Amino acid sequence: MLSNKLYTLALVLGAALFDIRGVGAAPASQGSWNSGLSQVYETTDRLPLPNLGNVIAHDPNIVQHDDHYYLFKGGHHVPIFKADHLSGPWVQIGTVLDANSIIDVGNRSRPWAPTTVFKDGTFYCYYTLSSPGSRDSAIGVATTTTLDGSPWKDHGAVIRTGLGEGSDVFPFTETNAIDASFITDQSSGKSYLNYGSFWHNIWQIPLSDDLLSIEAPKKPDAVQLTFMPDQHIRPEEGSWMSYHDGYYYTWFSRGKCCKFNPEKGGGFPDRGHEYNIRVGRSRDIRGPFVDKDGDSLLKGGGTIVYASNHGVVYAPGGLGVLAGNDSSPDILYYHYLNASIGFKDGDARLGWNVLNYQDGWPEVTSNSTVANANAAPILGLPSWLTILIGAHGQTSR
Ligand SMILES: *[C@@H]1O[C@H](CO)[C@@H](O)[C@H](O)[C@H]1NC(C)=O
Ligand SMILES: *[C@@H]1O[C@H](CO)[C@@H](O)[C@H](O)[C@H]1NC(C)=O
Ligand SMILES: *[C@@H]1O[C@H](CO)[C@@H](O)[C@H](O)[C@H]1NC(C)=O
Ligand SMILES: *[C@@H]1O[C@H](CO)[C@@H](O)[C@H](O)[C@H]1NC(C)=O
Repeated sequence: MLSNKLYTLALVLGAALFDIRGVGAAPASQGSWNSGLSQVYETTDRLPLPNLGNVIAHDPNIVQHDDHYYLFKGGHHVPIFKADHLSGPWVQIGTVLDANSIIDVGNRSRPWAPTTVFKDGTFYCYYTLSSPGSRDSAIGVATTTTLDGSPWKDHGAVIRTGLGEGSDVFPFTETNAIDASFITDQSSGKSYLNYGSFWHNIWQIPLSDDLLSIEAPKKPDAVQLTFMPDQHIRPEEGSWMSYHDGYYYTWFSRGKCCKFNPEKGGGFPDRGHEYNIRVGRSRDIRGPFVDKDGDSLLKGGGTIVYASNHGVVYAPGGLGVLAGNDSSPDILYYHYLNASIGFKDGDARLGWNVLNYQDGWPEVTSNSTVANANAAPILGLPSWLTILIGAHGQTSR
């Protein structure tokens, strides 16, 4: 907690910053959250603003396929959206599940934090079910062969923690089966499931070749990827793993994700303790991962790549990375809250930035010229006009 003096200073500074940038006029409906901002913001102008995704999404997951983008997010039966551009317009084309999940945990009609991968002609969507605040959780998987309209098959749980089959085997005895991500080893071709949050943070387990189950349920050969030792609460979650030029990158969100409640003057953590996006790297897919300072991710390390910025972007996290190639860069995408719109969980929206690697460390850039899945600019317009359209498109719910 800030001391009273510091608090007052922060309040004044916060208000001043906010006024200078001219985004401070809070809509009346949002009450007095201005006074909350001083507590809230450790805002930096060093980081670029997001390119707007123009869609509401918490823990977004994006797949690029056949010159289109497909977005998956938590929601009734896991909605799927489609667009030709990362800035939309996004159109809902269906859902992953056509009924409640066959896994009996949490709210079976509303899985969250999906991660979808395409492998050998099949799409695999790993989704999370959990009872809030407990380790009673499961990661399930559903498959399909085309994203536009063909039905998905729900295969049920890949791993479970807290209760259910296999949850008595370490590390499922100590971890939380949420927030799945997926990575394939470049040389061996073996695939891994990464998962976890709080309790014992983020772990990795080898998958079977069918990608529907783990390889050795009784002896899972798990490795731990991140850990915050000496902490009572360990808010690291939403991991992602990417590969770039000889390195595997473990990405994750650290800090408080949601339940910010400015109307009631509460819910904001100390400054800098809201969601932010961090990374570490390793030559080996199984780690150990270290950050830019050489600190182990198992000892609280993690280099910040993206965080609250410009007095408007708050608590970015729930990220993924779209892999580029020789002619197209990697793209970091995530959700964030726009302080001039609101702090409700349901206000989180998609943002994205092109990544640039400096000495093998990813940095976000303000470049927005590469947003089109179809290599040519949309409608053949000049690229500066394409950017304008992308940046000013309407937000769709
Ligand atoms: C479960 O999720 C559905 C949306 O799929 C929602 O309408 C319902 O209120 C949720 N149930 C509970 C108990 O939260
Ligand atoms: C690289 O990625 C872009 C964008 O996804 C794609 O249009 C292009 O065909 C890819 N090029 C190669 C050589 O794979
Ligand atoms: C935040 O919201 C304001 C008001 O709708 C909008 O003008 C601005 O572009 C938004 N910024 C971001 C980064 O979402
Ligand atoms: C933005 O990205 C495009 C395509 O990758 C590249 O040609 C251009 O040089 C980049 N612009 C800047 C300012 O880095």
